[in-house]
Amino acid sequence: MSDIETIEAEALSAIKDAGNLAALDEVRVAELGKKGRVSGLMKQLGGMSAEERQEMGPKLNALKNRVADAVAARKADLEDAALEAQLANETLDLSLPPKPEARGALHPVMQVFEEIAAIFGDMGFAVAEGPDIEDDWHNFTALNFPEGHPARETHDTFFFHPQEGAPAKVLRTHTSPVQIRVMEETPPPIRILVPGRVYRNDWDATHTPMFHQVEGLVIDKGIHMGHLKGCLSDFAREFFEVDKAATRFRPHFFPFTEPSAEMDVQCDRSDGAVKVGEGKDWLEILGCGMVHPNVLRNCGIDPDEYQGFAFGMGVDRLAMLKYGMPDLRPYFEADPEWTRHYGFAPWLTPSVSGGLS
Ligand code: PHE
Repeated sequence: MSDIETIEAEALSAIKDAGNLAALDEVRVAELGKKGRVSGLMKQLGGMSAEERQEMGPKLNALKNRVADAVAARKADLEDAALEAQLANETLDLSLPPKPEARGALHPVMQVFEEIAAIFGDMGFAVAEGPDIEDDWHNFTALNFPEGHPARETHDTFFFHPQEGAPAKVLRTHTSPVQIRVMEETPPPIRILVPGRVYRNDWDATHTPMFHQVEGLVIDKGIHMGHLKGCLSDFAREFFEVDKAATRFRPHFFPFTEPSAEMDVQCDRSDGAVKVGEGKDWLEILGCGMVHPNVLRNCGIDPDEYQGFAFGMGVDRLAMLKYGMPDLRPYFEADPEWTRHYGFAPWLTPSVSGGLS
């Protein structure tokens, strides 16, 4: 009995004296740990007679609980004190004037958005936007991805939990659903540019689960592949700020365009860096094609009367190419050093006539 009282008194005083979390943990181990004193007493229960055990069991349990409670209370006090100290240390005087070196910079992705918008704006495109959370119709079905078509799987889609009776919503995997939204609501002629965030389940040096695309859509009478090629070739030269750069269109597949192509621009890679407009290499920069008649029909537009072309490009990758950034991941780490190094002055609005960058 006296053992219990002595141990309790000593334990409680050691707990009270523990000045930090590490010291407190030592006390806890010494008393309640596997080889601790309280645990030692508990072990003696096994060698007792049934009567002794009936008397001692509850007492020892109560001791163990009181010591454990005291440890927990002391731990909470020590943590509170640590937080208080940290807060006192990190006070911020909001009335101080800003430090002269603290200045903002435009993120390269935003800069490139602005540059692309300036080029297509000059060609008469207007900016349109749509929601990041899309339904199955706009992200897939209306874009001529048949139910169960393998192309749906190549998108590594993030799905929401399905709601009753309706297919699951998705984080849009591309900006193409905005084509549908605009065509559903606006009678042709249409000439839009769609900057936006898109999402796919992918993560390495050149892929992040959220990235940025720009989509373009032209719908009018008598639109053909020649318009597409001229428009996008002009864009490539303007964007890379070179007088001449050959482009080539390689056949490709997208469910929502027919024919479909990927556009490459001429480049040179011989000394490590990519130089656009020189050399004999090719650099893929966008996907494009003539809008599929099914897509027009899905939006209530008669494909015998109207035709069009569409294109889509990854903005983060274009920014990497144009401004020589090797890794995509720091784009989204909000490191002020990185932003200061790669960022742009926010007030220099890019324009085709005044210069893009
Ligand atoms: N949506 C396609 C993609 O994300 C790009 C694209 C857009 C291709 C428009 C053709 C026409 O890969």
